[in-house]
Amino acid sequence: MEPLIAAIDQGTSSTRFLVFNAKTAELISHHQVEINQSFPKEGWVEEDPKEIMQSVYECMERTCEKLCQLNIDISNIKAVGVTNQRETTLVWDKVTGEPLYNAIVWLDLRTQSTVERLINKAPGRNKNHLKHKTGLPISTYFSAVKLRWLLDNVDEVQQAVLSERAMFGTVDSWIIWCLTGGRNGGVHCTDVSNASRTMLFNIHTLEWDPELCRYFDVPMEILPKVRSSSEIYGWMVSSKAGSLAGVPISGCLGDQSAALVGQMCFKEGQAKNTYGTGCFLLRNTGTKPVVSEHGLLTTVAYKLGKDEPACYALEGSVAIAGAVVRWLKDNMGIVQSSSEIEKLAAAAGTSYGCYFVPAFSGLYAPYWEPSARGIICGLTQFTNRNHLAFAALEAVCFQTREILDAMNQDSGVPLTQLQVDGGMTSNRLLMQLQADILCIPVVRPTMSETSALGAAMAAGAAEGVEVWNLSPDHLPHVSSEKYDPQINSDESEFRFARWKKAVQKAMNWET
Ligand code: G3P
Repeated sequence: MEPLIAAIDQGTSSTRFLVFNAKTAELISHHQVEINQSFPKEGWVEEDPKEIMQSVYECMERTCEKLCQLNIDISNIKAVGVTNQRETTLVWDKVTGEPLYNAIVWLDLRTQSTVERLINKAPGRNKNHLKHKTGLPISTYFSAVKLRWLLDNVDEVQQAVLSERAMFGTVDSWIIWCLTGGRNGGVHCTDVSNASRTMLFNIHTLEWDPELCRYFDVPMEILPKVRSSSEIYGWMVSSKAGSLAGVPISGCLGDQSAALVGQMCFKEGQAKNTYGTGCFLLRNTGTKPVVSEHGLLTTVAYKLGKDEPACYALEGSVAIAGAVVRWLKDNMGIVQSSSEIEKLAAAAGTSYGCYFVPAFSGLYAPYWEPSARGIICGLTQFTNRNHLAFAALEAVCFQTREILDAMNQDSGVPLTQLQVDGGMTSNRLLMQLQADILCIPVVRPTMSETSALGAAMAAGAAEGVEVWNLSPDHLPHVSSEKYDPQINSDESEFRFARWKKAVQKAMNWET
């Protein structure tokens, strides 16, 4: 039997455990569990760290059972990689192993007034004041302000810091710490891609930055050790790891970086767009961090080995993509299941002039406007739920168009096709709509779990595991499906211009 590599993919909406063949990249088996989100106040988004770990254990167990049913020996799994929703912020007690508050999810807006205060006191009220070190604008999106909120508002966190028991981490750190033993010697680490989303990390020196930590008044001793994205961090010792106990954890990448690796975008200029809860377009810029002039982020894409150079990416982040479908389902009851949206949208075939800007968490790239709010406009007596479903999908495509345009302007070399992945890409109508609105072909791998594949590749290639070869000649062939634009560019431009008007209204809805 050929070696297998597994990946834990802990996303905003669900957790998955997936097992791949390390030679062919074929997905052998997997299991998925949905994650509950709580919204304790308007704009707040939290998840339960214990539920997150429970979902990881459950996915591992169920996948192992499925492998047994396929007569596959679990000992063929040589390593595990971790990929995760980025920025989501946790603090736990290293003595008890207990989380000290819920995880504050990346979409959470509770720090909006803190962010406004920081921007107001920055020279020239410049939201990009820290960009030269972090690659990021000051925004509610990143971990530093969430951690600041926890330090200011949660007694247990303050006490734990004073008694030197507090550990901060993004979701990757929490998972790795728990799986490698937790309070009995768990490894407290993160990788460069996740660290680069905290706003405490210097993307040039690849270290936590004392000046940034002072700026946000964060004690450096609670931060995890920053490692590369591909090396053995530790071995699974948790009693709940079951038959996987003893397997090394040797890959760690934020989910968008992992998708870049899984799409094999290793060359400068290559890009991918992942449609999950949000939507994230990353373009590899090689070993040089490129500063955006058009509202994009500069981020560490990956560092595939201790002695390998870091590679950077320009990123366009859209907060709400799949989340708009979840909202139509959970809040509005317009669809019963997420997959139903395609049927509704297809029945309409048009939004009938209706535009939906789902700025539920403000607007991210390229606007970075936390006070924007969602709007639906262009309604008539004729508009029905099918048109609304269509407008919601079209919104995902328009947002991607905005970041693609920004990326093309920044790089000066327009993308001639877009590689896509993520859960929503199984929606064929969405894929066609995306090609129509971008006016370039959209290419989707038939196996859409590219974040997990990327984490597995990083884990399999790590020193001491070495069952996955990442050199260009050995990359596995992954089959794909192509969607060509089917409408003319005038029509596409007309709709896009209307969308932009709707965005202006979402940004100025109070005036
Ligand atoms: O930056 C947030 C991102 O990592 C979340 O990804 O797939 O959960 O939407 P996803």
